[in-house]
Amino acid sequence: MKRIVDDAERRGLQSQAADLRSLVERKEEEIRHRDRKGKRYLDVLAGLPEVSPGCCDCDRDQVQIGTRTDLTDDRLQLLVSALRKCMPWRKGPFRIFGVDIDSEWVSWLKWDRLKNHIQPLTGRRILDIGSSNGYYMFRMAPARPEMVLGIEPYLTFYFQYRLLDRYAALPDLYCLPVKLDELPLLEGFFDTIFCMGVLYHHRAPHDGLARIRAMLRSGGELVLETLIMPGEEEVALSPRDRYGKMNNVYFIPTVPCLMNWLRRAGFRTLRCIDVTPTTLMEQRRTEWVDTESLADFLDPRNRCRTVEGYPAPVRAILLASNR
Ligand SMILES: C[S@@+](CC[C@H](N)C(=O)[O-])C[C@H]1O[C@@H](n2cnc3c(N)ncnc32)[C@H](O)[C@@H]1O
Repeated sequence: MKRIVDDAERRGLQSQAADLRSLVERKEEEIRHRDRKGKRYLDVLAGLPEVSPGCCDCDRDQVQIGTRTDLTDDRLQLLVSALRKCMPWRKGPFRIFGVDIDSEWVSWLKWDRLKNHIQPLTGRRILDIGSSNGYYMFRMAPARPEMVLGIEPYLTFYFQYRLLDRYAALPDLYCLPVKLDELPLLEGFFDTIFCMGVLYHHRAPHDGLARIRAMLRSGGELVLETLIMPGEEEVALSPRDRYGKMNNVYFIPTVPCLMNWLRRAGFRTLRCIDVTPTTLMEQRRTEWVDTESLADFLDPRNRCRTVEGYPAPVRAILLASNR
């Protein structure tokens, strides 16, 4: 993290660099001393077996760290117990020292939808907002970006990343347990910003997009993936209470409405590269997920509707540039 702070200072972002330094210190302190969940996960990390992975391969659908032959049976038991304490595993899949983590989401489907459309990631500074356990950060690594910063405020997913990173130990990947609004405004700092599966959680999507635009360098690229409503009208659904049982979904726009939001935030070159309904093959309950999943969020008599009667989830991927 020191590297990012130093880099921000070099780019004339002194006050943001100082804010970032104190934010990191404050979060570490909070997790160590005040947050019960945080302390529990720190204990899980402390109990991990010492093993050096013989390989780390992020260039495949199932990210692989180490192999079964890298560790003894006793150490494998310790590892499996730690992995299970970090459930639910929503993003993946991973194979960690031969242990297959079949996550709720088949995340490579989304990666495959966008990987050939985005500007090459080599040498770029990347921000991944809502990075969860880092699945996409790991998938970015083989392109050799200058660095990837993930931000993930939910501690279970943040600590899943810490666990994976403990073994993968990729030098240019960093993750902070913070929300977008907490991150100091690193103006023009990032070449590519991923914002996937996050915008509908924002009460003020216009403010969120404006913040993202400010952090993108001129000519940089935003990769925006979000829930959308079908239709050509410039309107957004604002769920009365819940959408697909989620109580933190505020706005779901049509694609034309989303384009308007992006334009008003100052983005210029806009492209919608994909619109895909979420299927029960892409999001489903597995042995690594101890909660409900898509099948429970849909009306059992009409799978085209959520249990609340709204259109079932459809997601779009848009690319936007600020020049
Ligand atoms: C639906 S998941 C998407 C994860 C991943 N980006 C993907 O596309 O599969 C949304 C993630 O964003 C995180 N999140 C929610 N609000 C956020 C915020 N304001 N800033 C950063 N992350 C946020 C959640 O904790 C969650 O891990």
